Amino acid sequence: DITSILHTKIDLIPDDEYKELMNITSPFHINVETLIHVMQVMENSIKMGLDPTTQHKSDLKMIPTYVTTIATKREEGDILALDLGGTNFRTLLVKIRPQHDPVVISEAHIVPDSKKQNSQELFRFISDVLKLFMIRNKLDLNKKFILGFTFSFPCQQLALNRANFLYPTKGWGLQDLIDHDVVEKLQECLNEKQLNVRVTALINDTVGTLIACGYKVPSCKVGIILGTGTNACYFEDISKIQTITDTTVLPLEATQMIINTEWGALGDSGCLDFVVNEFDREVDKVSNNPGKQIFEKLIAGMYMGRLAAEVLAVLMNHGIILKAQRGHQESYRQYSPFWVLYNLQTSHISEIELDTGKTFANTRTVMNKLGLPQASDADCAIISYTCRLISRRAAMLTAAAIAVLMKRLRGSNKVCIGIDGSLYRYHPRFNMIIQRHLKTLAPVLLDYELHISSDGSGIGAAIVAITADQERQKLKK
Ligand code: GLC
Repeated sequence: DITSILHTKIDLIPDDEYKELMNITSPFHINVETLIHVMQVMENSIKMGLDPTTQHKSDLKMIPTYVTTIATKREEGDILALDLGGTNFRTLLVKIRPQHDPVVISEAHIVPDSKKQNSQELFRFISDVLKLFMIRNKLDLNKKFILGFTFSFPCQQLALNRANFLYPTKGWGLQDLIDHDVVEKLQECLNEKQLNVRVTALINDTVGTLIACGYKVPSCKVGIILGTGTNACYFEDISKIQTITDTTVLPLEATQMIINTEWGALGDSGCLDFVVNEFDREVDKVSNNPGKQIFEKLIAGMYMGRLAAEVLAVLMNHGIILKAQRGHQESYRQYSPFWVLYNLQTSHISEIELDTGKTFANTRTVMNKLGLPQASDADCAIISYTCRLISRRAAMLTAAAIAVLMKRLRGSNKVCIGIDGSLYRYHPRFNMIIQRHLKTLAPVLLDYELHISSDGSGIGAAIVAITADQERQKLKK
């Protein structure tokens, strides 16, 4: 029981404050009934998203990706890849040889916020960085290279190398790119910089995760990202996807296709209002896409720190934590420790949750980092409790969403699920909470396992880039 964290310090928390604490944080308590409700809402949205007559009304866009197989393991080549849309931007060289593990050489770069607004500036910047990467790695600039582009935003895909940008997420601008073909725009900038590089495929990061995991575990059918944002993709029967506009671009033997669910948008129509609380609404309000990506804002790394800060600020305002720091200001909002709380990041929550619940050494370290060294033992217990409550709800909601995809895959024998992203990798308890709730929510007959999938954005993009190139060669013949 999560309240046991408080019990270690309960003698230090007066009764009335304890009651008020429970009251303020109660909206974060969700149970199995809530999760089943979330599952129903999501199932409904999936059905609507796969049907062309209702797709426009559906929160889940259920985007056909035109990726129809996992790797054959006969692929071969030195492929370039770009990974854009997470915390870092990465340039990669992936060496793929039949029956060998791919070798990945990669460099991480920071995209300055100023470059996140306009697509031409962004793609010019990326092309420059790619050129330097190729030079540093002694690649022959006269040789032709193919490139797979992992672009972690919603795009309406028309073929592997045609993808119209739908809308920005995760704090990015790029309004000028909306409804334009991302591959074409990137290709123009690569050509401008005289790079002998052809973009043959664009994939979502979830697709990269699935494909990279599938390279190792052929039963992989789902790819999930739990990082700055959250999203998932899975293999759907083509017969159930009525929204594919052009079947002539598909290989003849294809029976399944990966669907990018864009599950982060669940709730945008208001269908999750039974979970969304006043703190979530505040986080949404101050984001740069209010009313959008509601499910993502309940879960992902970009928002979790802020959400915890919102709750802690109210606790402080009520004199439940950091009493001495609160002082006697007329308005608590003018007082600096209040603002300091807003520097809390999701990575701090991961650190805080490393505490066992008996001692609060990590919580104290985080408070020191934030500039709140005066936090008492009781403060630390309450802060730790609040963080656990918020991330437990996030992991439970993730489990509900995974369970929905597993229900759709019920016919399969065994299903492997590839997962990646900073939240999943670094949060010490997220995986455990997901697994525990999947036991209750997932279909009993389906055998499944979760795999951490590494380098999806590189390996996945490279494999799809080769496949796309081969398809093109076939068409030429
Ligand atoms: C956001 C994007 C989605 C991406 C996810 C994880 O939800 O819209 O395309 O997969 O973040 O990076």
